[in-house]
Amino acid sequence: MNSLALATGKEIFDLLREDLAAIEREFGGYSVSNVQAITEIGEYLRQGGGKRLRPALLLLAAKMLNYTGAGAVRLGAVVEIIHTATLVHDDIIDDAEIRRGRPSPNTIWGNPKCVLAGDWLYMQAFQISLEERNLHVLDLLTDLTKQMVEGELLQIEKLGSLITRDSHLDLIYRKTACLFAVCMQLGGVLAGATPAQQLRLREYGRAVGMAFQITDDVLDLTASELVLGKPVASDLREGKATLAVIHALERCTPAERASIQTVLEQRAFNGVTHQDIIAILARYESIAAANQEAARFARLATDQLQDFPDNDFKRALLWLPQFVVAREK
Ligand code: IPE
Ligand code: IPE
Ligand code: MG
Ligand code: MG
Repeated sequence: MNSLALATGKEIFDLLREDLAAIEREFGGYSVSNVQAITEIGEYLRQGGGKRLRPALLLLAAKMLNYTGAGAVRLGAVVEIIHTATLVHDDIIDDAEIRRGRPSPNTIWGNPKCVLAGDWLYMQAFQISLEERNLHVLDLLTDLTKQMVEGELLQIEKLGSLITRDSHLDLIYRKTACLFAVCMQLGGVLAGATPAQQLRLREYGRAVGMAFQITDDVLDLTASELVLGKPVASDLREGKATLAVIHALERCTPAERASIQTVLEQRAFNGVTHQDIIAILARYESIAAANQEAARFARLATDQLQDFPDNDFKRALLWLPQFVVAREK
C-alpha cells in the first residue's frame, strides 16, 4: 500500500471510528451465549481482528445518504457476525489451520463444536436483524445466506476439476460478492434509498466484492503467509482453480495443462511444485490478467456512484475499490 492509500485509509477509519467501535461492542455483547464454547469461539474470532470491510461498506452507504439512526451499527454487527459464521464454516470445509494470523477455530475446538458455533452465529445475526422490524432487511439477509451456502457447495462440487470462467465468476459472486452487495443495499434501505438507488448501491457492492475475491485469489498465489495471515497457495492445494489459473488453462500447452491438473486432482505439490505453476502463470501473464479483471470491477464499482450526493462518505466509497485491489493482505 502506498502512503496516499494509507492516508485515505486512516481518513475512512476516522470517519467511521465511533461507529466501528460501537459495532465491536455490539458484536462482543451479541456473541455471548450461556454455552461457553460458543462465546469463546465468537470472542476468539472477534479478537483476531479482521478488516471490518463489510460493516464499513454498510456504514458508508447509509451515511452517504445522511442516515443517522442506530440501525447502521446494529446491521453492521449483523453483517460482521454473518461473515464470521461463514469463516468458521469455511475453515472447516477447507481444512484450514490459520486464520487472521492465528490457529483457526477448527484446530482449537474441533469441527463438531465449530459447525454448531457457526450455526448459532447465523441465527444470532438473524435475531438481531429482527430488531429492525423490517421484512425487507430479513428478506435480503435470508437470500444472502442461501447464496453463500450455495456458493460454498458449488465450490466443493467443482474441487479438483477444471472450471469455466463463467461458473467461477458465478461462484465468487455467491460466496463473497453477494455479501458486499447486501451490505451496500442494507445501508441504502436504512437511509430510505429509492429502488433505483438501491440497485446502484448493490451493483457497487457486487463489483467491489468481485474485485476483492479476485484479489484474494491472486494474493493466495503471490503473497507470503506472514503478510497474509493465512497459508499461501492453499487454493491449489485445496483443488481450486481461480481466475489466474483459469486464464492460463485457456491458453497453455497440453503438457502445462496436465501439470496444473495434476496439482488440482492430487491436491498437493507432488512432482509439480508451486514454482512450476507460477512459471506457467507468468508465461501467459495470467496474474496480470486477473489483476486487470479486478481493476475492471473496481472501476465498475466507482461508476455506480455518479448520481449520489457528494460528501466525505461518497469520497471514501470512491477510494475504497482501489484499496481493495491494491491491498497486500
Ligand atoms: C475473507 O475475508 C474471506 C473472503 C471472502 C476471501 P476478509 O479478507 O475480509 O477477512 P477478514 O475479516 O479481514 O479477516
Ligand atoms: C471465501 O473463500 C470464504 C467465504 C466466503 C466464507 P476462501 O476459502 O477463498 O476464503 P479464505 O481464503 O479461506 O479466506
Ligand atoms: Mg477458505
Ligand atoms: Mg473456502
